[in-house]
Amino acid sequence: MTPDPHQFSQALWRIYNRPEQPVPWAYGGNLPWNDPEFSARMLREHLDQSHGAASRRDPERQIQLDWLWSVLDLQPEAHILDATCGPGLYAVDLAKRGARLTAVDFGPASIAYAQKLAAAENMADRCAFIEQDVRDFAAPTNTYDAALFLYGQLSVFTPQETAGLLKKIASALKPGGKLAVELLDPDRLDKKNSTWWYTDDKGIWGDAPFLHLGERIWYEEEQLVLERFQILHLETGQLDEVQLCDQAYDPAKMEAVMKQAGFTAVSTHPAWANLPLYDAQEWIVYIATK
Ligand SMILES: C[S@@+](CC[C@H](N)C(=O)[O-])C[C@H]1O[C@@H](n2cnc3c(N)ncnc32)[C@H](O)[C@@H]1O
Repeated sequence: MTPDPHQFSQALWRIYNRPEQPVPWAYGGNLPWNDPEFSARMLREHLDQSHGAASRRDPERQIQLDWLWSVLDLQPEAHILDATCGPGLYAVDLAKRGARLTAVDFGPASIAYAQKLAAAENMADRCAFIEQDVRDFAAPTNTYDAALFLYGQLSVFTPQETAGLLKKIASALKPGGKLAVELLDPDRLDKKNSTWWYTDDKGIWGDAPFLHLGERIWYEEEQLVLERFQILHLETGQLDEVQLCDQAYDPAKMEAVMKQAGFTAVSTHPAWANLPLYDAQEWIVYIATK
């Protein structure tokens, strides 16, 4: 296909005219997980066992689940809320260990896959998968024994939204219920500005050749990283721009935010308590008790 040169030139000028310091969260600050085509492409990455970038690989997930089962004091029949559950890999495994799951995600391909997986594993009656923005999920009160917010997703929301989500989860847990949150370790966060580019035939950004231009901007005052991706589709000249924000929280700050939200105690587990995960050093897991 020959691209329209006019569209190409417009795309390049849009890149040239981009604001130097974009306003964080101006466009939501998240990947377009709920776009059906992006969701379908991302599902391939979740299921790809050659890397753990979207969901960790099966053996590492089992190691995490063994640990979580113990620190969350889970028992068979425990009712667990999995917030931003992706394709349900954690949820269905927890159901196989005897738990009951309510799992929320707004990626259509992920939720469709999770439902199929639960049915294939005879776990459909233990798993309710809900396709919804977790910020809109009307969580019932005093219902769950435990909740999960894994793989850094909680810090992609604005601090106000994060506080609101924690408050909602605290209210949804039974007294004594526990929440596991996995967030990037701020000491390991790359706080330098950088740029990069690559081309590919196929990937999360499209199924036809594209050029990916990336920028990483550290906002010292706000303590956040903004990544801006410009995706130029080479067959059409169409330009997609995505901005991903990640708020940094140091452990004292996160503990204060959790207590403010209604949790009574918080324990902090740097590097996933040294579990043998390929990227364990990058993360801190917080266990917050209601
Ligand atoms: C990195 S993936 C992790 C998925 C899963 N926890 C795992 O580790 O396999 C992040 C997930 O968050 C979901 N997500 C992001 N923002 C969301 C929102 N506002 N509401 C619901 N789900 C959201 C995405 O659709 C995606 O499935």
